[in-house]
Amino acid sequence: MTAPMLPQPTQGDVLELILADHGTFEDLLRECRRTDRDRAAARTTLAELLVAHAEAEESEVYPTLRAKRAIGAEKEEHGEKEHAEILEALLAFLDAKGTGTKKYEEALEELARVVSHHSSEEELSILNPARDDVSVAVRHELGKAWLKKRNALLAKGCASRTQVSALLGKAVADKVLPPAKVRAEADAIKEAAKTKAEKLEEEATS
Ligand SMILES: [Fe+2]
Ligand SMILES: [Fe+2]
Repeated sequence: MTAPMLPQPTQGDVLELILADHGTFEDLLRECRRTDRDRAAARTTLAELLVAHAEAEESEVYPTLRAKRAIGAEKEEHGEKEHAEILEALLAFLDAKGTGTKKYEEALEELARVVSHHSSEEELSILNPARDDVSVAVRHELGKAWLKKRNALLAKGCASRTQVSALLGKAVADKVLPPAKVRAEADAIKEAAKTKAEKLEEEATS
């Protein structure tokens, strides 16, 4: 079986083009879940699209939206942090041996969670303000620039294990994402607080 074909438009309103890719992420995640599909091919295609899409947003779209004051620095930085979280979940997914294992399905579930969270947040807090504050003409210019970068990355290949690992390492080095050790400590604190809160609710309702 061959890898699912990716749409490769060359022009359009950047907001519509990004939304279309967010839909394709969901389609590819579903292909990765199905047992009657070529999961390995779907995983590779999903990885390539996730990386090309986000890299092109960071270099071609976010800076212009910021310059046009549609978004502030904190939204841009938060978007970049979530892209790094996607890289981390993607790396675990690529590291799952085979495609029929528990590890594969758990890594897929976590990747789906972070991708869906980011798409939702980007659509609400970045694309909506851009629709209000950036002209249609500029959105079409951005569409061309974003597609040029996205399609070039897809053509040369941008999501091998080595490439994803290097991008994640750069995000940590650039302090876009805290080191894994710090995040593990923060997660442990959150987990302990959650358990305490659940206990409190249970006591109040028993
Ligand atoms: Fe996006
Ligand atoms: Fe994004």
